Amino acid sequence: MTFKREDGRKVDEIRPISAKVGIIPNADGSAMWQSGKTIAIAAVYGPKEHHPRNQRDPEKGTLRFNYNMLSFSVTDRIRPGPSRRSTEISKISEWALAPVVMLEDFPNMVVDVHVHMIQADAGTRCAGINAAAMALAHAGIPMKNMVSSIAVGKLDKTVVVDVNKHEEDYEEGEGSTDIPITMTPDGKITHIQLDGKITKEQLMEAIEMAKKATKEIYEVQKKALKEIGK
Ligand code: CDP
Repeated sequence: MTFKREDGRKVDEIRPISAKVGIIPNADGSAMWQSGKTIAIAAVYGPKEHHPRNQRDPEKGTLRFNYNMLSFSVTDRIRPGPSRRSTEISKISEWALAPVVMLEDFPNMVVDVHVHMIQADAGTRCAGINAAAMALAHAGIPMKNMVSSIAVGKLDKTVVVDVNKHEEDYEEGEGSTDIPITMTPDGKITHIQLDGKITKEQLMEAIEMAKKATKEIYEVQKKALKEIGK
């Protein structure tokens, strides 16, 4: 029996996506990314002097990522301010982007990336990375490549792309496994997380699905950057 998704999507079908670059005039770079009901905005400031001084790296620049979920982004209000979850997602997002940013071009400096979730319906770290990658490009930060991010999931025994919150909470059979993946347009993985149980074959299937989905995402990111002349 094939798995039926609650919103009628095919297993390899992502939610409707949209992007806009240049949404925050005062930032050096900014962008919005929307996947279904998940909306992220990103603002980039820098490269600028790195404070505190003792955190400066004379070999290369520093990427400082700040992920934040706004209190009204979900139905149960979220307590404002940093949490263990936001600290972890900030680090992971930083690591997902760092391999494509030419940090060696700005030693001793820092680039601040602020990501805020306006609405959350799962996949927020991926939406944040998609918005941040566009905002970095918009800010003119030298990059080797773009990155695009998507969460693949396994619901019971079926691998599906772009899980929403309803799917993430799926508990029947083998339950829900969430695999956020970030890739360059040529399919190099800069980030993969695996939370749950999956066979090697299904993991390969998940990566293939992510490859197809990130290509679609990349096209939308590229178009949004072109629209603003970047
Ligand atoms: O958002 P993402 O899938 O990257 O990370 P998660 O920690 O697996 O969170 C999944 C979803 O749970 C979020 O996107 C929100 O929709 C929801 N969530 C929530 O309602 N309240 C929280 N404090 C954290 C997450």
